Amino acid sequence: MSRSQTGAAPAAYLDGPTRAFAVMAVIYGVVGMLVGVIIAAQLAWPELLNGISWLSYGRLRPLHTNAVIFAFGGCVLIATSYHVVQRTCQVTLFLPKLAWFTFLGWNLIILAAVVTLPLGITSGKEYAELEWPIDLLIAVVWVAYAIVFFGTIGTRKVRHIYVANWFFGAFIITVALLHIVNSAAMPVSLWKSYSAYAGVQDAMVQWWYGHNAVGFFLTAGFLGIMYYFIPKQAERPVYSYRLSIVHFWALIFTYMWAGPHHLHYTALPDWAQSLGMVFSLVLLAPSWGGMINGIMTLSGAWHKLRDDPVLKFLIVSLSFYGMSTFEGPMMSIKTVNALSHYTDWTVGHVHSGALGWVGLVSMGALYHLIPVLWGRKQMYSKRAIEIHFWVATIGIVLYIAAMWIAGVMQGLMWRATNPDGTLVYSFVESVKATYPYYVVRWLGGVLYLGGMLIMLWNVVMTIKSGEVKQVAPKLATA
Ligand code: HEM
Ligand code: HEM
Repeated sequence: MSRSQTGAAPAAYLDGPTRAFAVMAVIYGVVGMLVGVIIAAQLAWPELLNGISWLSYGRLRPLHTNAVIFAFGGCVLIATSYHVVQRTCQVTLFLPKLAWFTFLGWNLIILAAVVTLPLGITSGKEYAELEWPIDLLIAVVWVAYAIVFFGTIGTRKVRHIYVANWFFGAFIITVALLHIVNSAAMPVSLWKSYSAYAGVQDAMVQWWYGHNAVGFFLTAGFLGIMYYFIPKQAERPVYSYRLSIVHFWALIFTYMWAGPHHLHYTALPDWAQSLGMVFSLVLLAPSWGGMINGIMTLSGAWHKLRDDPVLKFLIVSLSFYGMSTFEGPMMSIKTVNALSHYTDWTVGHVHSGALGWVGLVSMGALYHLIPVLWGRKQMYSKRAIEIHFWVATIGIVLYIAAMWIAGVMQGLMWRATNPDGTLVYSFVESVKATYPYYVVRWLGGVLYLGGMLIMLWNVVMTIKSGEVKQVAPKLATA
């Protein structure tokens, strides 16, 4: 980050929408993780909530994924991108009313999801379950978001476009493309539509979308957060600006081709599966390049990790990012996938990325951002941040270790054969063997949710009664 981008900015920033998105992020985090804990309990104790159709596992699971990815993650991304683009371009947000429209529109979409998913209204496509009227609203709100973001870039007072904005920009453009192409459907009634694609093409488009939702929604946008908030919190420039540019181009080019690793051993042509595997293996390099760039930003200032819990969140998130982006390429190797696919190993991989990377980097960024937005010196309780960090980290370890063991065990049990070729275990035996691991995963989830509740309390106290900073917030240098 150059001096001009971190120095005092003369602009009066528009912080209202950022504040609103930041608060909603914390609230949706609590709700989405609570639903996660409920479905984790349903897997361990299946008779729980029996008989209530709208609280059944099949309906709550998409509610969980939509709430944590799009409500929690989406609000974090929009809040941070609005903050970062103004500070690094040294201008106020483009079209303030449109920025407020994005806030109202995004929350309306979330409300529609909360009503329709438990009612069983779904397109049945993973991470794209919402039906066509809501899909149209998403497209409108997303275009408005793009206008606000790129309009701000277009009116910037700094010639250079800081690398965090490159990542946010790629995330915004790509998500628009993914959403519009994958949601193409033929409506047959107000709440039912059928995909415009059929057979294996439908599967391929869906996983091109699904994988790039991981690559651009859960990764590129959060890398934008990393490139702004780690240097800010550590008070150090990015380790290598040149590496950040190589990281950007290599990552966005490679992600686009890796989707077929979700469709190994299916009707998809074999060459497409192999192509997906090769690109997934290549993806290890840019992913680790980015992780190293983030972690090394702390070089020469490692001591800060000892007593800055916000930095702990940010740096440990990168360790989990490194872990899941090593594990992902390994799982994309066909022979490894033959064992891992359909097992809880996949769920463990998902949550080492989701809880470890996305969750922790979001929390770190929000802990940095909230005092800045409300003109407070710091968060109300530093001790509560420290407790949150440890509770969340122990929760993640319990969750992912339980799923790894359960997953490998399931894969081995399913493929074990007797000398005469018959199966050693029936399916139900593998379900029984998984039970203790589901209880441990639930416990990990309870801890992670507990941390989020501590955060909610700390945020409320900071806004209500935190110590006020001397500088007026509108002219703050952050
Ligand atoms: C308290 C924290 C959480 C708990 C207890 C939890 C629990 C669960 C459970 C039980 C499932 C279903 C697994 C299955 O079908 O076998 C699931 C799926 C999923 N969760 Fe979470 N979750 C939590 C937080 C999160 C967060 C923060 C994110 C994302 C940022 C996330 C993303 C996902 C995704 C993408 C899936 C679908 C996985 C797949 O299809 O393989 N979860 N979660
Ligand atoms: C180099 C990076 C990565 C690669 C190559 C990769 C690869 C993979 C592979 C091979 C699978 C299993 C597909 C299957 O058997 O069905 C998978 C599943 C998944 N990964 Fe990753 N992964 C990467 C990083 C991440 C990260 C950082 C996250 C989260 C933030 C993530 C989220 C997911 C999700 C949500 C699924 C489950 C999709 C589903 O079946 O619903 N991945 N990934």
